[in-house]
Amino acid sequence: MAFAFGKIPRFSPSFSPAELAVVAKNLVSQGDEAEQVRSFEQAFAKYIGADHAVMVPSARYGFHLLLKGWGFGAGDEVIVPALTYFAIPALAEATGVTPVFADIGRNTHVLDPEAFRAAITPNTKAVVPTHLFGTPCDMKAIRAIADEHGIKVIEDVAQATGARFQGQRVGSFGDAAYYTFGLTKNITTLSGAMITTNDADLAASVRAEIDGGTPARLRDRAKEALTGTAMMVATHPKIYPFTVHPAVVLGNRLGKDPIHERFGEAERTYESVPEYYRKSRPRGIQAAVGQLQLERIEDLNGARVRNGRVLDRQLANVPGLEVPLYPEGSEPIYMSFVVHHADRDGLAAALRKRGVDTTIGYMSNCAASALFPERTARAPNAERAFADLLHIPVHPNLQDADLEHMCEAVRQACLELR
Ligand SMILES: Cc1ncc(COP(=O)(O)O)c(C=O)c1O
Repeated sequence: MAFAFGKIPRFSPSFSPAELAVVAKNLVSQGDEAEQVRSFEQAFAKYIGADHAVMVPSARYGFHLLLKGWGFGAGDEVIVPALTYFAIPALAEATGVTPVFADIGRNTHVLDPEAFRAAITPNTKAVVPTHLFGTPCDMKAIRAIADEHGIKVIEDVAQATGARFQGQRVGSFGDAAYYTFGLTKNITTLSGAMITTNDADLAASVRAEIDGGTPARLRDRAKEALTGTAMMVATHPKIYPFTVHPAVVLGNRLGKDPIHERFGEAERTYESVPEYYRKSRPRGIQAAVGQLQLERIEDLNGARVRNGRVLDRQLANVPGLEVPLYPEGSEPIYMSFVVHHADRDGLAAALRKRGVDTTIGYMSNCAASALFPERTARAPNAERAFADLLHIPVHPNLQDADLEHMCEAVRQACLELR
């Protein structure tokens, strides 16, 4: 079903009746939670092609536990792409490890292997190839450089669960990887995350930390389930034009972005890893939802890929617009579709006028961020992307008519801005 009146939301979650039923069932009475978690972990490890998977409360905490598990700390460095989510370098610092920023490729949005090579010092212990926006990094090149220098590879798969590089799933190239399953991700566990690795000792050290925490509160999971269901209803093609869309338009007139305010997070650094991270051991209800979502992941990602390829083709030659590029061999899942325009605020406004909601997202050029004043680095591609990127909707609920409307809206908007 196409979105009524061409009003198109930036994202739209998908829950099947079976998933909603499992949420309700687990809220009423919990099953064997340890078994539910183990079952999801095993299915996930098999899907990725890793020996071990451990559910963790958040990807950033998983990242901290990986660094800690390998014993990295003061004096050690981890190379991170400059365009990334602030929480990852912030958690490296909270662990005592120095983040070192390396540039991304132009319009690929992912770590440039040569920039990674140039950032290596005798103190480099790990590199974090981040498969940003669903686009896999060049894992062959990155793995080869890392092996040459004895550096651990920690894949950031927060935005790319299920994507492949040269036919192999990302998350299985590194020494370890982390994933996240918030409400706006391609699969969700009503918040929660996962790490995978082939290193049994590392997996055991992460598990010991998680088992030592206290279980997440069921009330919080119930709230998350309610939010997810409300989002699904509110972004339904027949309901969105009359509910969220007017709120977005009104918010924008007042200089606000209500969706960003609801889901965004204030950027900050941490003196140390917050204690509350230890108080949210994943619950059976999260695993049960994740297990069902994982059974549908190929359909959900497949719809994104279909939509993304239409946008790649249709928007390739629009004056003033640059479309994403993909490293050779990468098979993206189009978690986001990111275009570049010198007047991206003008483009966003012109698209909003035509019913299409967009976002600038929540990535930062961390190499020039006030959060990391001592880590400033030259990263021209990240700097440019940070200034001119815009996310166009690409979620699985878009139909052909929506894509057609959006592409025409983008063409008209770009003409208007010339
Ligand atoms: C690229 C990337 N890395 C890491 C994270 C952190 O995930 P979490 O919020 O589970 O800590 C996110 C969050 O969405 C992300 O987009």
